[in-house]
Amino acid sequence: MRKQLKRFIDQLDENSVAIIPAAHEKTRSYDSEYKFRQDSDFWYLTGFPEPDAIAVITPGAKDDYVLYVRPRDPLMETWYGRRQGTEGAVKNYGAKKAFSIEKFADNIGRHLDGKDVLYYRFSSDNELDAKMLDYFSEQRVRRLKTAYPPHTIKDPTLITGEMRLHKTAEEVELMQISANIAAEAHILAMKKVKPGMTEGQVEALMEAYMKDKGASGVAYNSIVGGGANATILHYVENNMPLKDGDLLLIDAGAEFQGYASDITRTFPVNGKFTPAQREVYDVVLDVQKKCIDLTVVGNTHMKRQEYSIELLTEGMVKLGLLKGRTSDLIKKKAYLKYYMHGVGHWLGLDVHDAGRYYVDQQAKQSKPYAPGMVLTVEPGIYVPPDDKSAPAKYRGIGIRIEDDVLVTESGNINLTSKVTKEADEIEALMAKRK
Ligand code: GLY
Ligand code: MN
Ligand code: MN
Repeated sequence: MRKQLKRFIDQLDENSVAIIPAAHEKTRSYDSEYKFRQDSDFWYLTGFPEPDAIAVITPGAKDDYVLYVRPRDPLMETWYGRRQGTEGAVKNYGAKKAFSIEKFADNIGRHLDGKDVLYYRFSSDNELDAKMLDYFSEQRVRRLKTAYPPHTIKDPTLITGEMRLHKTAEEVELMQISANIAAEAHILAMKKVKPGMTEGQVEALMEAYMKDKGASGVAYNSIVGGGANATILHYVENNMPLKDGDLLLIDAGAEFQGYASDITRTFPVNGKFTPAQREVYDVVLDVQKKCIDLTVVGNTHMKRQEYSIELLTEGMVKLGLLKGRTSDLIKKKAYLKYYMHGVGHWLGLDVHDAGRYYVDQQAKQSKPYAPGMVLTVEPGIYVPPDDKSAPAKYRGIGIRIEDDVLVTESGNINLTSKVTKEADEIEALMAKRK
């Protein structure tokens, strides 16, 4: 049994059962599917890689870990790929017992009857929800004489989210590999980009590199935006030619054994920042470094966000993007025009990883940073190309700089420091291009 699963079981209530489903394949078009990606919680707990599976976890039971999986089927396997089947689920994935997934609906009562607490996350998997509700409906009409369905339903992500937020040494190792692969892909892009290439060509060479180094692919759709495309936060079309004199913003990360990296760099297509580009760049870089310094034990997400707003607003005033007193501009949220996202997020199996941000959401009391947390640090300034109120020289400039930072006992470690971000160093690296 995986260590994570053992730790999860230890945290479940007495006389409870947890139902954790795998992901399903999703149609991309007509009869072809997107490449399969396992559900992160299911992957974290079981390591089982196939779709259409369910883990039933019953603390204290002899069969405390049961897997429902796709059955072996020579015809289906010839067409669509190998399956572990029930035998593989026991032999290779440590399930105490395994059944065919088709048996799950019939067996729900066998797992749930008489339990006080059910751990199940409703509204993630509609088909499974229907099966669970059918079970409860049947129980309701049987009245209490014979029916004892769980009376309390809890969301298991309260436990898995907290667990995933605090990375183990093994997880940090995988995240460092993911970070290294992505960092090297960014360096490659800096070394190869030239005016006239398309955004898509840069994307292709980065993604080929990631796969070549053992990543399963990207952790999210890469954002490769030249010129004013960099001011579109989730620009993923990546199909325009790159122009001499423009900046290129690349937000791309790798996925390695399920773990994401998430890096953004912004650099000149021709290898040399214009003075205007450099002015904005240095403001963002300075804020980014200061926010990394703040990503340490004792600080909170909220504090870091407020700090980034304060520093970026000061920077916007210095650049002439905003006019007025910094404190008034912050109160009026004037910065939102040029900085409209958070300064970072948890990172792990999901790029925007699991785990709550608040200790008390109503009171907006944010969770203090602790060793083992991994966060991104990604301030940015985005000046719309048609923004008449901005100095003309800054219009259409979009800059974000993003690193992945591990909080440690004694400070933090920047997992993505390998890819340079000092403007002079970027220029020196790019000057060596052939
Ligand atoms: N790449 C997504 C993000 O930076 O949050
Ligand atoms: Mn990010
Ligand atoms: Mn990113």
